[in-house]
Amino acid sequence: MQDIPVVTGWRCSVCNTKVSIDEIFSWRCPNSTSSDRHHVLELENSIAPLRSNGDANPYVAFQRYLAWDAFAATLGLDFAARTKIIRDLDQAVVKVAGVGFRTTPFARNDALSDALGFNNLGGVWIKDETNSVAGSQKARHLFTELLHLVTVELVGRAPWKSPTQRPALAIASCGNAAIAASTLARAVNWPIRVFVPEHADAATLKILDSLQANVIRCPRVATDQPGDPCVFRFREAIEQGCIPFGVQGPENAWCLDGGRTIGFEMAVVAEELSGSLISRMFVQAGGGAFVACAASGFFAGATKPRVHAVQTQGCAPLARAFEIADRTGGARNAGSRWSQCMWPWETTPVSLADGILDDETYDWVGACNAMADSGGYPIVASEQLIHESYALAHRVTNIDVSPTGSSGLAGLLAIRHEIADDERVIVIFSGVRRQ
Ligand SMILES: Cc1ncc(COP(=O)(O)O)c(C=O)c1O
Ligand SMILES: [Zn+2]
Repeated sequence: MQDIPVVTGWRCSVCNTKVSIDEIFSWRCPNSTSSDRHHVLELENSIAPLRSNGDANPYVAFQRYLAWDAFAATLGLDFAARTKIIRDLDQAVVKVAGVGFRTTPFARNDALSDALGFNNLGGVWIKDETNSVAGSQKARHLFTELLHLVTVELVGRAPWKSPTQRPALAIASCGNAAIAASTLARAVNWPIRVFVPEHADAATLKILDSLQANVIRCPRVATDQPGDPCVFRFREAIEQGCIPFGVQGPENAWCLDGGRTIGFEMAVVAEELSGSLISRMFVQAGGGAFVACAASGFFAGATKPRVHAVQTQGCAPLARAFEIADRTGGARNAGSRWSQCMWPWETTPVSLADGILDDETYDWVGACNAMADSGGYPIVASEQLIHESYALAHRVTNIDVSPTGSSGLAGLLAIRHEIADDERVIVIFSGVRRQ
């Protein structure tokens, strides 16, 4: 039983092309090109019932459900050998990050529930990612990309002859994703190029420097199309042979595999609760991989809370896409209407929650599916509510969350009047404050 893979393959959400699970370096849809990135692979799998094997490491606890596990099985590795790869890589991460991948806390927060007027039957459950590897949920996504790479190397299928000839990894980010990617790269001594905005903040740059990342500043240039210059320079690096190592599904779909562990973790806890079901989940959305994965992981369990992707008024391309998709054929499976629904936010985005200012929601198809499948919808929080949620989080909890990390709570504040006092809802404190 244990060795029957649950994930059977990939399928493009846009052009329906299938990609076999045994394919090496299957980062993108084969029809994705440098001028047309409007493709994204999604996993084809059937998980029922969702069960943790009880291990503290989520990649071991939910190993059978990982695309990476199915992939590694096709390389001839047995179950125990695959578990060992996870454990060895986790050990390497511990040496750099000080912590490894462990199930993160998830519980009703009584003070926050009281502050928001929920009664004893309802309340707010907080999933706390602030003490996880590299201080946010981002490393969860990247770990399955790294597992893929090291496994290919281990079985001798990499096109380079020795680790010294490895092509560099590459990521476009100036925040938590860059720190997570550089942490994982450092753990295996893999060179990494990090494409950051011209005015990246000093605290992040210092951390990236300490992790020996090769940081490249990316000013906006006149010849660029609308969109993020860091992403354009990143794509040029990929064309030159670098390996995509980011948290955007269209650039590397393997981030959508490990990202689900956060949803798996919450789903197994939610199933054990007595009383009513969790009715809603608020997830702050930037590039959108987070909400897509938290939802698809959670939905592998027995219940489907309404998913609310939360954006700020300063940058809300996903809310715009959901609305257009909804009235032009439906928000579910809208991938073929990409250009009609998703394009870069026109004005320069600003918010205290600066980690969710991606001017395009790259994983908008998965994010819209999550909302459409669950009867949820996007919420655009005012900047005032972003400030209030951050202040509230620090006033009533002892979690040292960042403004981005608490911004899902702004979505809850925005629609609190629509929620009954006995409803149970989730917010995810996704990142630690950095100074
Ligand atoms: C702490 C934190 N939460 C949430 C997000 C949003 O994740 P995504 O870009 O996958 O939507 C980010 C992205 O940078 C983040 O740093
Ligand atoms: Zn495609």
